[in-house]
Amino acid sequence: MTNDLYAVVGNPISHSKSPRIHSLFARQTGEPVEYTAIQAPLDDFAGTARHFFARGGKGLNVTVPFKEQAWQMADRRTERAEKAGAANTLYHDSEGLLTADNTDGAGLVRDLVSNHGVTLTGARILVLGAGGAVRGVIGPLLAHGPASLTIANRTVARAEALVTLFRGDAGETRLQACGFGQPDQPFDLIINGTSASLQGDLPPLSPTVIGAGTVVYDMMYSLQTTTFNQWALDHGGTRVFDGLGMLVEQAAEAFLVWRGVRPDTAPVIDELRTD
Ligand code: ATR
Repeated sequence: MTNDLYAVVGNPISHSKSPRIHSLFARQTGEPVEYTAIQAPLDDFAGTARHFFARGGKGLNVTVPFKEQAWQMADRRTERAEKAGAANTLYHDSEGLLTADNTDGAGLVRDLVSNHGVTLTGARILVLGAGGAVRGVIGPLLAHGPASLTIANRTVARAEALVTLFRGDAGETRLQACGFGQPDQPFDLIINGTSASLQGDLPPLSPTVIGAGTVVYDMMYSLQTTTFNQWALDHGGTRVFDGLGMLVEQAAEAFLVWRGVRPDTAPVIDELRTD
């Protein structure tokens, strides 16, 4: 049997863990999947994607900096992709339409709820950042009915724009925007979705946002404790998680969309952690 072809497209792409994750999923599930990495030129993502599908490729994952372009080029978008304004998954639907999906938010929620036992319903959540990464996770977080969701950002206007965008999805949740200096009470869950740690920077938050039971989640991950999680540990945080689980869960969600089979993520997360 010949394998069905999938790939992740980005620029740069050599450090992507997606080929390893999907190969482990394929081995575990017995699905005939071959998954590679493609570096697209910065000025020709759409051409690269079209060429891949024209050669018979079945599905693409899309990463930095092409997620918005993937969203743009699609013939149709799933509801969660529509709201996220970006796509990390492309495939052709049963009618042959190029479909854009976004599994990032579902991946984050699944890592929090299923892997770490975090309760989102009724929780007071603080999200740091208001860029593309955060936009992709707000809808899935709101779907769990937190008591409040506060979006804090360096540029407050961007946080306010997200609040406006998601106001209609908030239901009973108190959805609000602010700067980093404003929150001073403990939250149940703090999610860092800024790219500050890429520069070794920290959002200037009051340590009083961390209480005895606060869960801290950095959407970034690295071999060492991330800058943000180290800050949380230094200020009394005890339950801190990085984004490796989210990375594997968003991949599992894409695998489910493509193949109709949900892989078991726990052994894959364990294997990547020890790589
Ligand atoms: P991504 O797709 O990773 O979300 P982005 O859209 O460029 O990338 O957004 C980056 C986010 O990290 C933004 O919220 C940004 O804040 P601004 O909206 O004020 O630019 C935030 N960010 C980046 N560097 C930061 C830093 N050094 N300190 C605090 N926030 C930072």
